[in-house]
Amino acid sequence: MKTKIINSPDMIKAADRRPSTTVFSKMSEESLNELSRLIKDKKYYIRTYGCQANVRDEETMRGMLENVGYIPANEPEEAELIIINTCAVRENAEDKVYGEIGNLKYLRKKNKSMVLAICGCMVEQPEILNRLMTTFPEVNLYFGTHEIGNLYSLVYAAITSKERIVSIESKPGEVVENLPACRLNRFKAFVNIIYGCNKFCTYCIVPYTRGKERSRKFDDVMDECRSLVDAGYKEITLLGQNVNAYGKDLNESRDFADLLEEVAKLGIERLRFTTSHPWDFSSKMIDVIAKYPNIMKFIHLPVQSGSNSILRSMGRRYSREQYLNLVKEMREKIPNLSLSTDIIVGFPNETEEEFKETLTLVDEVKYEAAFTFIYSPRKGTPAAKIEDNVPYEVKSKRFLELVKHLEGPIQEKSLKMVGNTYKVLVDGVSKTDEGMLSGYTEENKLVHFKGDESLIGTIIKVKILESHTYSLIGEVVNE
Ligand code: 5AD
Ligand code: SF4
Repeated sequence: MKTKIINSPDMIKAADRRPSTTVFSKMSEESLNELSRLIKDKKYYIRTYGCQANVRDEETMRGMLENVGYIPANEPEEAELIIINTCAVRENAEDKVYGEIGNLKYLRKKNKSMVLAICGCMVEQPEILNRLMTTFPEVNLYFGTHEIGNLYSLVYAAITSKERIVSIESKPGEVVENLPACRLNRFKAFVNIIYGCNKFCTYCIVPYTRGKERSRKFDDVMDECRSLVDAGYKEITLLGQNVNAYGKDLNESRDFADLLEEVAKLGIERLRFTTSHPWDFSSKMIDVIAKYPNIMKFIHLPVQSGSNSILRSMGRRYSREQYLNLVKEMREKIPNLSLSTDIIVGFPNETEEEFKETLTLVDEVKYEAAFTFIYSPRKGTPAAKIEDNVPYEVKSKRFLELVKHLEGPIQEKSLKMVGNTYKVLVDGVSKTDEGMLSGYTEENKLVHFKGDESLIGTIIKVKILESHTYSLIGEVVNE
């Protein structure tokens, strides 16, 4: 199959933070009608990997596709358009994608008229794109994270062309507003406030795959949140790779703390935000969180390491002491604060002493939840160039030791909850037991309990009866 390259990825362009001029190209009314005619009664299927940014992208793609007439498929086998929305943050995320394409490629072999597309962070890296293109000739559309606004033209091109279409523009254009969204949840919504990341932590691929920081306009975020409140949503999560950088790229005097406060004032029952970089987490933000009961007292504050020398090599811009001071200020001002974190073990040349400093930090902070990772070199990032003297077995051993340290306080907190009553937003039927419902407390603890399905989407009171490390069992309290 011949390949038509509209744009190809370029890591140097992706790292450029100067203003860009790319504009969103709209499809003509006539071509849109033609696309609607072509895909009439056809189904689409999207499989998403990775973070909430990808989930939110899936919602936009669903909205766009359904707007033009595509019908959602329950299984990939029914679909004429399959999109695999990929994640590149660690190697194991990529491996899952290779496996998935391997499973799905036979569908396109059987049905040459279907479109098999790959998008998301993996295709933003030239070597990975090349490997995908060589390994999977069945895939006939590749598009990047900045190309979602062009989805109609890309799908149209893939349907009508015999060539494989590749469109990966490494420099993001303006923020595109007013794209439709088909939300995956009826009562919990993600709202993007800032795209991209300028932090360039030395291990991380995200600043290259998602581009420079671009904040949405204050009023656009407010309008979206207002319409969610009006539509009866119970929970909003403000999203960004680093929400604290909100507004810095705009000619805007209001910052993230101001935005958080204004959204809280809209009266949404639960307001969350993620992710926060400790470096620009301001005292003003802490005050806003403390002031509004509907801002959940659960903060995800990735530390990555407890060692100053490793933090320096990671380019994290804060020291262990600064991080701990921030935690102290938060705990003083926000009673009942729950903290979660991300930690990487086995960063290149991490010594036993440096690792132990992560353990002592974890013991001191007592996180309520944590995501732990073994360092995974990402080609093109500065850390990937460091020669590493730590064998993988040592990294695995450290990983298990860290998990053990984290579990103690998590179990302790869960145990303390037994006998008390908490507000739970009911998510749905429990994934582990069909006879139970499940939902999350304000501090993001997962609770399973018996109840009628009519409770789904409401906030109820649940008394905790039993605690496990990562979940709780409770009973509904009838008032
Ligand atoms: N290796 C391991 N973990 C990583 N993360 C980001 N890049 C890497 C990498 N190269 C982790 C960080 C980040 C989370 C989303 O993923 O902990 O906070
Ligand atoms: Fe990656 Fe660091 Fe940006 Fe987070 S803040 S997305 S870890 S570069």
